[in-house]
Amino acid sequence: MMTPQEILEALEAENAQSLFVHARLVRDSVFGKEVFQRGVVEFSNNCRKNCHYCGLRCSNANLERFALTKDEILSAVNMAVECGLGTVVLQSGEDADLDPRFIGDTIECIKELTDIPVTLCLGDHDRDIYKYWRACGADRYLLKMETFDRELHARFRPGQSVAGRLSRLEMLCNLGYETGSGLITGLPGMTPEILAHDLYRLSELPLGMIAVGPFIPHPDTSLGRSRSGCVEESLRATALLRIMNQGVNIPATSALDALLPNGREQGLEAGANVVMPSVTPESVRYEYSIYPGKNSSAGTVPESVSNLQQRLKAAGYQPSSARGGSPDRAAKFKDI
Ligand code: 5AD
Ligand code: SF4
Repeated sequence: MMTPQEILEALEAENAQSLFVHARLVRDSVFGKEVFQRGVVEFSNNCRKNCHYCGLRCSNANLERFALTKDEILSAVNMAVECGLGTVVLQSGEDADLDPRFIGDTIECIKELTDIPVTLCLGDHDRDIYKYWRACGADRYLLKMETFDRELHARFRPGQSVAGRLSRLEMLCNLGYETGSGLITGLPGMTPEILAHDLYRLSELPLGMIAVGPFIPHPDTSLGRSRSGCVEESLRATALLRIMNQGVNIPATSALDALLPNGREQGLEAGANVVMPSVTPESVRYEYSIYPGKNSSAGTVPESVSNLQQRLKAAGYQPSSARGGSPDRAAKFKDI
C-alpha cells in the first residue's frame, strides 16, 4: 500500500506515463484484456436529496421527472442480457416515495428471468431495507463516498456526513453485498492533498468495486459555473487505485467519456477493467442528466452498446459477458 505522501507525489509528477504502464501491467496480470460490462438501468430520476454537483438534486425544477414501471425495468434488463452484458445495475436518485417492495419484487422477477448478478445503486436506506433487498436476491451495492473530506462532504452533500456514509458501507459489507464505492475528482475546493487522502482511505476499505470520475458542472445546479475536474487527474487517480487494489473491479467511467471522445478507452489505458453502458430506454435516458453529456450517445440502446463494444475491440480489449465478480474481495474481507 502506498502512503498518502507517495500518492500525492504520483498525482503531481510531471509525467504519468510510467504510472499508466504500471497500472496496465497490474490490470493485465489479473484481468488480461477482458472488460466486464454492466448494463445500467436508470429507472427513476426522482431524488429527495440536494447534492450541489448533481443535476437530479431536488431543487432542480428544470428537469422532467420520471419513474419506470416494473415491466419497463424488466424489458431494459432483457435488453442488457441480449446485448451480452453480464450484470445489471438498478440505479436511481433517492426517490422519497420509493416503496422498498417495488425494488424487492423487481429483483425477484429479474432472478426468475435470468441468473445474472443484480447490483443496486439506490443511495442511503435503513439496514432493514438493505437486508430485505439482499434476501430478495440482490448481489452487489454501490454507494459512493464522493469525498472523505469532512468539510467538502458536508458542503456539497447537505445534511449528509462522511461518518454516516461509512457506516452504511460497513453495513452493506456485513450483509454480504459485494460492495462498491468511489469518488468524484476535481470538485471545487478539492486539492491534490485531499484527493491523495481520499484515494488512500478508499483503498483501505474491503471493496469489490471502486470508481472515480471527474466533476462535470451541470448548468442547473449551484456549481454550474465552476470548472470541470481535470481528466488527467482522474486518470491518474484510476491508475493509483488499480496499483493499490489489484483485483478490484474499476470502471472506465462515463464521466470520462462525457469530457473526451475516447474517455473510456483512456480509462482502460489507466488500468480500468469495466464499462457500465446505460440500457435506460431512449424515451427517458436524456432526463437522467446527472451531468451534461451523460447518456448523450445517439441511437437505440442496442446501437449504443454495440458501438461501445466496437470501440473496446478497436482499442484491443475483449468485451466480456462474464458475471465479473472481484477476485480480490474474499482476500480483502479477511483483513478487516
Ligand atoms: N460530475 C461528475 N460526476 C457526478 N456524479 C454526480 N454528479 C456529478 C457531476 N456533476 C456522480 C456521483 C454519483 C454518480 C451517480 O454520479 O459520483 O454518485
Ligand atoms: Fe440525489 Fe445522488 Fe444526485 Fe445526490 S448525487 S442529488 S443523492 S441522485
